[in-house]
Amino acid sequence: MDISGIKMYQFNPHGDDRGQLIALEGMISVPFDIKRVYYMYDTAFGARRGRHAHKNLQQILICVSGSCKVLLDDGTKKIIVNLNRPDEGLYIANNVWREMYDFSSGTVLMVLASDIYDESDYIRDYNEFLAFVKRGNE
Ligand code: TYD
Repeated sequence: MDISGIKMYQFNPHGDDRGQLIALEGMISVPFDIKRVYYMYDTAFGARRGRHAHKNLQQILICVSGSCKVLLDDGTKKIIVNLNRPDEGLYIANNVWREMYDFSSGTVLMVLASDIYDESDYIRDYNEFLAFVKRGNE
């Protein structure tokens, strides 16, 4: 994808006549050790989530049910990705601003994270994010 720190992963379903099953293993199907999993559901109509970047955390977003859009911004370029497949994972490296929106009703957005929750790893102010990325590139 034409933005740094972003990659779409295609997961292999184990399908048979009973249906589909996807297994995800740290350092095998995703490029980091999975230390935390969380998921968003019952998202309010029109809600916008995320609106932050991480200094160190890596994540993979999987829309296990339903659909949503993700705006990604590396401080230079912005792209919008549609997530609507349970067999696709959107990898987001650190230093990428993300906003999730346009959740369809019933959407479950699951996130695999490379570390436990740490509020000090968040950058929640967009101008601070731009300054942080600029400093890193100097
Ligand atoms: P928040 O960071 O606002 O979610 P978003 O991903 O949309 O930016 O998180 C909502 C609340 O949940 C907030 O009080 C922090 C808490 N939280 C945890 O306790 N652990 C976690 O792993 C996450 C992601 C959030």
